Amino acid sequence: MDAEELRSAYIEFFKERGHAQIASASLVPENDPTVLFTTAGMHPLVPYLLGERHPMGKRLVNCQKCIRTGDIDDVGDSSHLTFFEMLGNWSLGDYFKKESIGFSHEFLIGVLGFKPDQLAVTAFEGSGSIPRDGETADIWRSLGMRDDQIFFYGMKDNWWGPAGITGPCGPDTEIFYDNGQPKCCEGCGPSCHCGKYTEIWNNVFMEYFKDEKGNYTPLKQKNVDTGMGLERVIRILQGVPSVYESTIFRNLIDGIAEVSGKVYENENIRMFRIIADHVRAATFMLADGVMPAKIGRGYILRRLIRRASRYMSQLGYDEAFMADLAEIVIADYGDAYPELRKNEKITKMALAGEENKFRKTLRKGLRHFDGMATGNEGREFMDGEQVFKLYDTYGFPIELTAELAKERGLKVDLADFESRFKEHQDKSRSGAEQTFKGGLADHGEATTRLHTATHLLDSALRRVIDPNITQRGSNITAERLRFDFNLDRKVTPEEIAQIEKLVNDAIKADLPVICEEMPYEEAKKRNAIGVFGDKYGEKVKVYTIGGVSCEICGGPHVKQTGELQGFKITKEESSAAGIRRIRAVVGKFN
Ligand code: ALA
Repeated sequence: MDAEELRSAYIEFFKERGHAQIASASLVPENDPTVLFTTAGMHPLVPYLLGERHPMGKRLVNCQKCIRTGDIDDVGDSSHLTFFEMLGNWSLGDYFKKESIGFSHEFLIGVLGFKPDQLAVTAFEGSGSIPRDGETADIWRSLGMRDDQIFFYGMKDNWWGPAGITGPCGPDTEIFYDNGQPKCCEGCGPSCHCGKYTEIWNNVFMEYFKDEKGNYTPLKQKNVDTGMGLERVIRILQGVPSVYESTIFRNLIDGIAEVSGKVYENENIRMFRIIADHVRAATFMLADGVMPAKIGRGYILRRLIRRASRYMSQLGYDEAFMADLAEIVIADYGDAYPELRKNEKITKMALAGEENKFRKTLRKGLRHFDGMATGNEGREFMDGEQVFKLYDTYGFPIELTAELAKERGLKVDLADFESRFKEHQDKSRSGAEQTFKGGLADHGEATTRLHTATHLLDSALRRVIDPNITQRGSNITAERLRFDFNLDRKVTPEEIAQIEKLVNDAIKADLPVICEEMPYEEAKKRNAIGVFGDKYGEKVKVYTIGGVSCEICGGPHVKQTGELQGFKITKEESSAAGIRRIRAVVGKFN
């Protein structure tokens, strides 16, 4: 079975069981300030897990593209990936444990052909006021699982979420593939990392909400949120040592071999894998509108592009290559994700631009290294601060620095580098954690007002500046909105004043904000705007504000624009090449 077959088998299986298919959401979370990227299929569904009605019903299924950036530096081994696909099915207050576990069992054994003996499962052992999940274990037993295949774990292993600091969460039952090797020790089980067990599916029984204080309260409805790792399942089904040897990466690995003239073997394996992972992730990010930048998402993208280029240089190839490899990704995934083809031109241009810029930096870095090495003559180890600077400023992998040092008869203190690296990582982690401030999908009154203000701003920009302006990013906190859009020049002070006036006029008119559910095609006919990609056949929510704005959006919004009181732009700046950024606030200003 290849990836395409697995995707359609999964979706068909759940459709036959009453689930509506929803499109993969963008990798850039819409109107969610708490996360950089979509990291799980449940992210775009948070409002519905909290009780809002989903226009497609209570049973959903999809294949969601995800990015997790926690361990970019581990990519290259046999298991870590930055981009991956998550197959998921959801019950929004509909079925619960029995059906969910039944579906998973039937799909794994009946459709994918796993033997009952190849599976192991887990259940929540209980913690504080939340009881042990004996029910889940009983359900698995009723399906024929033996006690020695069922493992109980606590909060660390058997609880999922929230994705940010606050949000929906709950105990889960994780399903593992047991490769049949002997247990590594007496306590060996699915939580052990010896390689015997691989997690393939996680069924979360989302029935709690975690608040800022860390309290868990029952949600209005009991939900099921599941996620199956497509790459992992393919690796197992195809019986290969890592996903890079599976059909998923075959064309990309062949492409790297062709460009570099090197073979995927021995010490080249790690470099091939890093390049393949990073090119795939970067291509998907660019297709969703992320551009290389100094901070945030754009910075992650930049890191991936640079890291891939560096490793290609280490493989001995020094020209720009990423646009060619992106073509392979686009050919492989273009049917499943049409946005890749739609944005092919800008993706390739951005890759080549960033790569060429980086190659210049790399050359400068090499000159800097030469200077440093001369200054370090006679020492055993090169100066630690300088070594770190090569990594941090010039993007040199430590292996490259060590190699260059060796040629000069110098050494690099790896332990010293590690400790500087860790310190730096802790700092950037705490920076990343700031992104989570406010909790996942904060639907407070302040953010609700700012959501509506965003629609008014979006419409005013088109009317005042250019009808071709579209949203390229949106981020809302309780304090302010932030809106990115395409424009290759500054917004003039006169235009800012005009935009503010249009939005304030709409607020003064106290227009009703009307929400309707309709098929996507109908929304398009009404010229509703929205960056929603391939939603054909789906029902969507359309918010109309007087005659001013008509947008496909998940909400939430105020009932009348008067609730905003007033609107003010606080900042206008460049966000990336061809992208401007506006920050604005609402409230009473005089
Ligand atoms: N949201 C759950 C996960 O990511 C299914 O594992």
